[in-house]
Amino acid sequence: MVKLIGCKKTKTAVFISGTGSNLKSLIKFSKTKKSPISIDLIISNNSKAKGLKHGKINKIKKKVFNFNKKNKIENQILSVLKEYEIKMICLAGFMKILSKNFIGKFKGKILNIHPSLLPKYKGLNTHQRVLNNNEKYSGCTVHFVNSKLDSGKIILQKKVKISKNETKNSLGKKVLALEHKLYRKAILKVFNR
Ligand code: GRF
Repeated sequence: MVKLIGCKKTKTAVFISGTGSNLKSLIKFSKTKKSPISIDLIISNNSKAKGLKHGKINKIKKKVFNFNKKNKIENQILSVLKEYEIKMICLAGFMKILSKNFIGKFKGKILNIHPSLLPKYKGLNTHQRVLNNNEKYSGCTVHFVNSKLDSGKIILQKKVKISKNETKNSLGKKVLALEHKLYRKAILKVFNR
């Protein structure tokens, strides 16, 4: 469990690469009284990530890093996280894999959301693979991040039934709506709320 010091919200950074709908939802949640976290920093590997606009709208500092030289960049990110006193990280559609060293510095403090019922369908293109296998259910998972892709300890999952004429897009939309709710619940659970 992440311990809260006093009643201050835990300073959190959200890492994104794309649209940022989970980021948007987390920011909204963070502003509620019951949220144990505040979002103080947005980090992206992609300067064109649509989600970066939520930084501007909500006056949250955003930083973009070019991941070509990963080790060097991760050290720079760690410095920025320190500067902003970040104690927790939420990955939300972040398309880069963090090193063991980086994860070790935030042990048990990095969460990720994945659009499948892990341990099934790790990695990319989950919805199409789920449909190709004629699965009856799909869903999403919030888990702790460890050094193996989509493999850390599961915090919460939510299941959804696949409809008869489901497409990759319709399933994607359905699961994304669930993700927004699940991420909040998972954060509350991590903080034992
Ligand atoms: C979500 O489906 C998330 O589970 C996956 O990437 C997608 C990001 O969506 N890791 P968004 O950028 O939060 O809208």
